[in-house]
Amino acid sequence: MRIYYEKYIDNLDQIQQLMQSGVSATMPKEAMIMEIRDNARRRHEICLENDNLLERALFQRTPGSLREQDIVELTEFADRLFLMGDGPDTGIAHYIHRLLLEYARQTRNRDLYIRELYHAGFTLLHVKPIVLHGKVRNPFHDQIAAYFEEGASYLEQYDGIESEETRACILRCCEKRDEKEYLYIFPRESDRQREKADISREREALREHLLDVIAEYHPPTYVHSLMVAWLGEKLCKRMVHVSPEKLVGTEDLPDADAVLKAEDMLCRSVYEGGLCHDIGKSRVLNYIGLYGRQLLDEEFACVKLHTVLGSALLKDAGYKRLARIALHHHQWVDQKGGYPYPCDTCPEDIRMLVEIVAVADSIDAATDNIGRSYASAKHFDELVEELRAGAGSRYSADVVHLLDDEDFYKEMERELVSRRQKTYCDVYSRRSQEERSDGTVSHLYREK
Ligand SMILES: [Fe+2]
Ligand SMILES: [Fe+2]
Repeated sequence: MRIYYEKYIDNLDQIQQLMQSGVSATMPKEAMIMEIRDNARRRHEICLENDNLLERALFQRTPGSLREQDIVELTEFADRLFLMGDGPDTGIAHYIHRLLLEYARQTRNRDLYIRELYHAGFTLLHVKPIVLHGKVRNPFHDQIAAYFEEGASYLEQYDGIESEETRACILRCCEKRDEKEYLYIFPRESDRQREKADISREREALREHLLDVIAEYHPPTYVHSLMVAWLGEKLCKRMVHVSPEKLVGTEDLPDADAVLKAEDMLCRSVYEGGLCHDIGKSRVLNYIGLYGRQLLDEEFACVKLHTVLGSALLKDAGYKRLARIALHHHQWVDQKGGYPYPCDTCPEDIRMLVEIVAVADSIDAATDNIGRSYASAKHFDELVEELRAGAGSRYSADVVHLLDDEDFYKEMERELVSRRQKTYCDVYSRRSQEERSDGTVSHLYREK
């Protein structure tokens, strides 16, 4: 199995390198697009290979099928993936420790069982989003507490245990249980430093910084944010012109005339909302940045927290209305689906702006065939059919109806392709050309 494990770690490294590579700004646009798409294809292929490797070397294995040698190899593999929280794949390290824990339970290997309780808790402690000001509770704190509680309960048998390592794990479990740091606090020093730096930033600088983080570590998500901003603005402008009455009440505008006069302000709000709607992903980059395999259920649950995280970040920075957009953009309009759930209803004075961003989000997420959903991108026609099918339940019927006009539909379809190509080229070429002195990229929305 060692060869599979080596290959897997090697692949994670390759994915990271591919994710960080830009394109030369001097290349012709078509060549740039080809290179960006090729990069996405290679990442996708490595992901598939990693899924296969894990399936064969890990997911198909049952505790009963493990031999002594497997235990040694799996432990080594988990250590290399975890590296005390700074390794390339904490999620899989946790998965391995859960498997070993079950093996130890079934084989009644008390010492291994105690050690694995500690390791399962400690690795899960790291499978969580980075939070700001402790505003978002660790979604796994009950499970983590249970591992440490049970590990600590072996203190009674401490004197009868010979293995130094096992004894140390019991003490560490007691320590963790008493500290309760798994509730909110980040375990990594680097995260603590980042948190401190964030709190001290001015509101504008904080939002800039968060967008920088996304642009730097996960450029496809940054492209997506710019695309949602642009699409949202187009939809908003269209609504102001053809059905301003739908926007009455938004931003407390009293009638259609007031809506028409407030066109710039409304469009700007939607643009900013689109730009920041996924800003919470800056806190779960260890998952979206990984993308070297399919996400585990626990990790997917963390990615979903980007709504709550983004909302908390924006609220702290003083952007209350943008915080609402970040919080509600994955909720269905009929309140019967989406996330976060449960959640308070969206205030009426911003509801339509959220609904516009939500449709813009779906359009870009589903149709990006360059970098983001390389393998599963849909054609615009197919996506619009889905939007129509979900109009009134998942999506706002008022927003989806804007696409009923044939000319507007065609314009959107055409401009979506060219705008996406331009945005990818801008973002990826800037990565190599125009880095700021502090190493971060500059944001394009300032030039809008
Ligand atoms: Fe999102
Ligand atoms: Fe999004």
